[in-house]
Amino acid sequence: MSNAATVSQRISKPHLAIKGGYKLSGDLTVSGAKNSALVLMTASLLTECPVEISNIPALTDIEGMSKVLRTMGVKLKRQSETINLQAENLNHSDPPYELVNGLRASFFCIGPLLGRLGEAKIPLPGGCRIGARPVVEHIRGLKALGAFVKVEHGVVTASVPGINKRLKGASVVFDCPSVGATETVLMAAVLAEGKTTIENAAQEPEIQDLARMLNMMGAKVIGAGGPTISIQGVKKLFGCNYKVIPDRIEAGTLLIAAAITRSKLRISPVIPEHLSAVLQKLRDCGCQLKIDKKGITIIPGEIQGVDITTQPFPGFPTDLQAPFMALLATAKGTSVVTEKIYENRMQHVGELQRMGASIRLQGSTAVVEGVPQLSAAPVSGGDLRAAAAMVLAGLAAKGTSKVEGLNHLDRGYEDLEKKLNSAGSQIQRHEL
Ligand code: UD1
Repeated sequence: MSNAATVSQRISKPHLAIKGGYKLSGDLTVSGAKNSALVLMTASLLTECPVEISNIPALTDIEGMSKVLRTMGVKLKRQSETINLQAENLNHSDPPYELVNGLRASFFCIGPLLGRLGEAKIPLPGGCRIGARPVVEHIRGLKALGAFVKVEHGVVTASVPGINKRLKGASVVFDCPSVGATETVLMAAVLAEGKTTIENAAQEPEIQDLARMLNMMGAKVIGAGGPTISIQGVKKLFGCNYKVIPDRIEAGTLLIAAAITRSKLRISPVIPEHLSAVLQKLRDCGCQLKIDKKGITIIPGEIQGVDITTQPFPGFPTDLQAPFMALLATAKGTSVVTEKIYENRMQHVGELQRMGASIRLQGSTAVVEGVPQLSAAPVSGGDLRAAAAMVLAGLAAKGTSKVEGLNHLDRGYEDLEKKLNSAGSQIQRHEL
């Protein structure tokens, strides 16, 4: 390919043009949680009855999951924020790798498929830009419940032996509190024979959301949100109407948008307990927060550097590490940011440096020396949250930044630039 072709290809990539330096004001609405919605959609596989889920965000990941579920025979209809699903004619044919690749959450279908049909076949999700992301814990958990699992040619095939093909309740102790593995075993265990206990379970709010919906469907789950979950298996589950919780990562991103532009902003709906670690860090770095029944108003002061270490919930979420680093790049003083969940989640550092940030990277630790002003540059978000970090940095930078990586951004943020523009930012989307 000639140099000219390479350059023109670069220029024609979809991007956001962000004029930095504008203050934000007003109220912004937080959409339903992507990570909850995705797993709740797979939980609909557990019953032949109709399931209605509301507050579903409009995201490409949700479209991807809808396609995966349709390949399994699920009838699915979407009307604005509500999805109706019915898995009456569920089959266990494996969805094509092209659909599963890039949508890791589609692997979570394996639990409900095994629970309901006693058989499942799902392509193994690959690693991704932020890390290897194994599914060892998911498979260990399913084996503990009595499934035969083999991985061949990139496909995971699982089946339950015996005439009734029903999993058997068991004790599952995770080596690490994986969110996806907890969800997989939880969904497999609700239709198993007898009692299952999951120890060292993930405690993320999305797990509580899943357990609440499963219980509305007739499951018997106790303890979700804590380290030990008990599940008494039942023979059958039924339909339900369920509303997804607000997206805590989007809420955090919007609060950081206010902080990085030193603007007062109110966001709602939000469940403050889902964001405790993030709210504490925002306070520590100089923001005043007013929490009311449904929302949070943020009033930033002079932003000071703080140290951040990502941890499983209730610790600081890895998904807000990159966005928060953009804020710290503009803070007074030094911050140390340590990524403990993913081995390769520092790719935004180089891009922030292109915008004038002063960051030294040593393995998974970044030492950020705040600078008085970021400067606009062409940058690219290499994963979903890195792309959000670039947008945030663009809001604060002097000049017009060009942010690529919209394929990532659109996976997890509904109308991010429209929301920010309604509060006063100047962002223009340029499609191909
Ligand atoms: C979910 C979220 C993702 C978030 C992550 C951590 C969804 C759709 N995605 O991803 O946005 O960043 O939680 O909060 O809900 N691990 C193992 N072995 C395993 C499984 C995981 O070592 O078998 C490790 C992973 O490599 C990673 C850590 O555990 O280092 C967390 O992974 P996990 O909690 O499984 O994340 P996901 O469920 O994939």
